[in-house]
Amino acid sequence: MADNKKRLAVFCSGAGSNFRALFRAVKERNLPAEFVLCLSNRSQCGAFDFAREQGMETLHLSEKQFETYEAFSSAMVAALRERSIDIVLLAGYMRKVPDAVVAAFPDRIMNIHPALLPKFGGEGMYGIHVHTAVIAAGEPESGATVHLVNEEYDKGRIVLQRRVPVLPSDTPEVLAARVLECEHALYPDALEKLLGDKA
Ligand code: GAR
Repeated sequence: MADNKKRLAVFCSGAGSNFRALFRAVKERNLPAEFVLCLSNRSQCGAFDFAREQGMETLHLSEKQFETYEAFSSAMVAALRERSIDIVLLAGYMRKVPDAVVAAFPDRIMNIHPALLPKFGGEGMYGIHVHTAVIAAGEPESGATVHLVNEEYDKGRIVLQRRVPVLPSDTPEVLAARVLECEHALYPDALEKLLGDKA
């Protein structure tokens, strides 16, 4: 039934391959959800291209457009409320979500992180930096973590986690590709779990 569907917003900064995987999964698994908004801190990105192909609304929202951080935070909360968003999915969003948004959507914001949290998380740990750090630390394995977002960077409750090996020959780029493939299966599973919990 269409009106039981949770309204999803996805926040992205880059290619948006996790967004695509989530979008596909909602369709293929017939999940009770629909994507209604793609928000980015960048005016152009692969995620926006995909959203537009799907006829989804895109919204470029950046701190730089506002005089104060508070005004930016309020605009983000308003944008989500105006569209009656139920759940926010961070998919390669390389900014901290403002506290006001976290407070307005408690346990309704999920993030995917390309490592086994609580290790290799926090400020500065994003994208290729994470994989560089994992290899430098000599870790035998890495993976991906989907977690709920709270006010502390990468510290919210873990929803799902999956492991991949780190091979002696790995470069950060090779490891990133292995982890990303894992993410594309893990994030849809986590969304399905969250939707089940909130049904
Ligand atoms: C993904 O590996 C995601 O886990 C990571 O950025 C990549 C985005 O790829 N996110 C972070 O590092 C957030 N701290 P995508 O745009 O193709 O989904």
